[in-house]
Amino acid sequence: METRAGSIAVKVIDPPAGARELADEICERVARGPSFVLGLATGKTPVGLYGELAARRAAGVSFAGVTTFNLDELAGLGADDPRAFRCWTAELVHGPLGIPPQRAHSPDAPADPASAAAAAADYERRLAEAGGVDLQVLGLGRNGHIGFNEPGTPTDARTHLARLADATRRDAVATFGALADVPTHAVTMGLGTILEARAIRLLAFGAAKREAVARLLADEPDPTLPASVLRGHPDVRIWIDAEAAAGLHR
Ligand code: F6R
Repeated sequence: METRAGSIAVKVIDPPAGARELADEICERVARGPSFVLGLATGKTPVGLYGELAARRAAGVSFAGVTTFNLDELAGLGADDPRAFRCWTAELVHGPLGIPPQRAHSPDAPADPASAAAAAADYERRLAEAGGVDLQVLGLGRNGHIGFNEPGTPTDARTHLARLADATRRDAVATFGALADVPTHAVTMGLGTILEARAIRLLAFGAAKREAVARLLADEPDPTLPASVLRGHPDVRIWIDAEAAAGLHR
């Protein structure tokens, strides 16, 4: 059953069923027009969604006309570093869905601030040229970040070089082996950039997301929670599982 928290439509559902529902919507939108622009999150949460989309392609859906924009990229990794998000999406999204590389956008993420600022401006230019994002897929950080907009990010931020929160870096140790090897920064779409997507779809599963979900859906907006900006967007739907929902209606 879908409920509403302000303007946000909320559904408590098990993760595979949530992935299927969002895949249904994406496939319907792809079928409506060839110029669909999809915003991609990386991380554990959307893996099921991307697997579901790959299954739809195997069943005959064509994604060849879709353009994608990755939300973010860790700073300072080499072009072919397998830990880079652009490699991750190439493997889990663009390859399996047959989306050609020239329509698979991700921000360049050099570590030095001046080059990163130029890369961020270039990403905004590419987004504008593509006509903006039709549907943005989001995960939710345990500290409430979306993209790598950590607590304290201005709500009108554009694509920028962001410093990662300690908690965010700790969550990446499994990938990088040691905390000292986890990048300290990322180039991310800003909150203002994300809010320009015409539709926003967020997935949040598991007990680790419980507190952020409760704060996002609380009666009063929480300005210290970056995801709170979604409350001001007219077309947001979120799918959460029972574990992530357990902090609601206490
Ligand atoms: C990833 C991203 C992040 C993740 C968030 C949740 O591109 O922008 O905001 O969505 O950190 O990550 P998982 O899904 O791994 O829990």
